[in-house]
Amino acid sequence: MTERTERIERAKEHFAKILEEQLIRVESMKESQDWIDYDRLTPIIIGVIGGDGIGPYIAKEAKRVLEFLLENEVATGRVVIKDIEGLTIENRAKAMKAIPDDVLQEIRGCHILLKGPLHTPKKGDSWPNIESGNVAMRRELDLFANVRPVRVPEQGIDWIFFRENTEGAYVLGSKGINVTDDLAIDFTAVTTQGSERIIRMAFEYARRNDIHKLTVITKANVIKTTDGKFLNIASQIARDYPEIEWDDWFIDIMTAKLIDPKRRTQFRVMVMPNLYGDILTDEAAEFQGGVGTAGSANIGKRYAMFEAIHGTAPRMVEDGRGQYADPSSMLRATVMLLNHIGFHEKGKRLEKTLDICSQYEKKFVITGREDGVTGAKFADYIMETIQDESS
Ligand code: IPM
Ligand code: MG
Repeated sequence: MTERTERIERAKEHFAKILEEQLIRVESMKESQDWIDYDRLTPIIIGVIGGDGIGPYIAKEAKRVLEFLLENEVATGRVVIKDIEGLTIENRAKAMKAIPDDVLQEIRGCHILLKGPLHTPKKGDSWPNIESGNVAMRRELDLFANVRPVRVPEQGIDWIFFRENTEGAYVLGSKGINVTDDLAIDFTAVTTQGSERIIRMAFEYARRNDIHKLTVITKANVIKTTDGKFLNIASQIARDYPEIEWDDWFIDIMTAKLIDPKRRTQFRVMVMPNLYGDILTDEAAEFQGGVGTAGSANIGKRYAMFEAIHGTAPRMVEDGRGQYADPSSMLRATVMLLNHIGFHEKGKRLEKTLDICSQYEKKFVITGREDGVTGAKFADYIMETIQDESS
């Protein structure tokens, strides 16, 4: 065998393994599981994961606020809130796994997770180039829907993004292959089941909330097979929702239209494959005050995980400024968590308080430095305001 055919054979074997795994995944998606019912669940176990960099600082503050809001439920045993230690880049590098086995087992013992940011190694990093912990968790717990709302009421912006969270370029993102020193190939995968469930969720959300506009975002003109499939499935599902006007946009022009003040307010519910959702939601969050102000829900039928959408800000910790990190994004994630498990009134109270404290009253402001308040002080301010508002 020439070296070239040998390389090709090796790549084919690698590809065959990927196909095998993905077909097994399709089969497991077909065995449709029921949605967990939190109303009938006692106790609801909430795991808090600190993560890396500023993660533990902001997770700690979010946990305090959560404990404050759920004080009675914790006292009666309806809710259990626990810390999950060990999901750090040090431990992950030691185990050479995106999520070490013992930590994954602990995570699986919870129903709901509140997670700080995790360091995602990249090529050339000082850490081994292991898979992203976020991506692994979304896959392991089958958290197929990444739901990210962005609201700027005074500008008429009221968006909610439904980003597919378990397929696309991500599912095989660390399974690419260097066929030769000169040729690198990555893979992307889209399935009927994976597309249907996220697209249907977006349409259902629109229907439930009386929103009559839904936008599907792909690059189906170029990425014809996978994006083409996603768009095709969307057009079929749309027939079940005749009251919702839907349209489709390509990701490039969509990123442009989000900055067009005349057009952007027309978008409401958006659904898209994984990578486009990653990019578009960072852009969208910028209108609201940056990724630090946005929360993100990762929802599956059995588990749900709520997280900050920003990174770990390692420089802040290196400079000794960890305690000045802004817990707002984690608190926005906490709002989504409370709503998800049925504590709507508490969720609303926290959301309203966050708006008051960070947009209107601004008695204590976080700057990330000593000229602002610490995250702990800000969390106190939130809890005091909640108390004042309800007395
Ligand atoms: C996000 C993040 C993650 C992603 C990274 C940290 C892997 O950017 O939640 O949007 O790309 O999904
Ligand atoms: Mg992102």
